[in-house]
Amino acid sequence: MNKNIIIALDFESGDQTLQFLDRLDPTLCRVKVGKELFTAAGPQLVKDIVNRKFDVFLDLKFHDIPNTVYGAIAEACELGVWMVNIHCFGGEEMMKSARKSIVDSEATKKPLLIGVTLLTSFDDEGAKRVGIGNIKKHVNSLAKLAKESGLDGVVCSPKEVKSLKDSFGKDFIAVTPGIRSSDSKEDQKRTRSPNEALENGSDYLVIGRPI
Ligand code: C5P
Repeated sequence: MNKNIIIALDFESGDQTLQFLDRLDPTLCRVKVGKELFTAAGPQLVKDIVNRKFDVFLDLKFHDIPNTVYGAIAEACELGVWMVNIHCFGGEEMMKSARKSIVDSEATKKPLLIGVTLLTSFDDEGAKRVGIGNIKKHVNSLAKLAKESGLDGVVCSPKEVKSLKDSFGKDFIAVTPGIRSSDSKEDQKRTRSPNEALENGSDYLVIGRPI
C-alpha cells in the first residue's frame, strides 16, 4: 500500500486528536503533528500517536542557529517520528547540522529530513513583499542547497514538483501541502488538486482542512 496521504492533525487538544485517530487506519495513511497541536499537547502526544503505529511527520519547521537545530532534531529522533522538517532558509550550515544530528542519534528509527522551501501560503505578491522576485527560482535554489546539504527532500507547492523532480531526480522527496479541489483555498495560495499533485510527481500530499 502506497501511503501517500499525510493527514494534518491541526487540532486544539490531545483528546480531540486521539478521538479523530480512532477513525483512521495507520496502514492507510500517515499523520502530521504541527505547531498548534505540539504547542497544546507536547511530545507525549507524539509518542502516543507513534505507539498507535502511525507514521508521524513532526512539522515543526525548525529554523534557528545550527547548534539549536542539532539539539531539536536529536529530541525529535527520540520521539520515533517518521519525518521531520526544517526551513531551508536556515542555510547550508544549519541543514548539515540537522543531518549530522540524525546520523549521530542512537534512536532505532531515524526520521526522513525534509526542508521547507517557500510556504504554500505565499503568492507572487506576498513573495515580493519579503524580497523574493521569482518564486520558481527561489524554490529551486533552496531545493538545490537542501540536496547538497544531505536532505532527503523538500516541502513545496504541488505546482513546483515537476521542475524540482526534473532538476534533482525522482528520489528527491516532494511533500506538498496546498492541496485544494475547490475554489475555497483559505490561506493557501499556490494550490493544486490531489490528482494534479500526483500527476506532477508529488510523493506525499499533506491535507488538513479539506478532510
Ligand atoms: O488545512 P490545510 O490542508 O491547508 O493544511 C496544510 C497543513 O500543512 C498545515 O498543517 C500547514 O501548517 C502545513 N504546511 C503548509 N505549507 C507548508 C508547510 C506545511 O501548509 N509549506
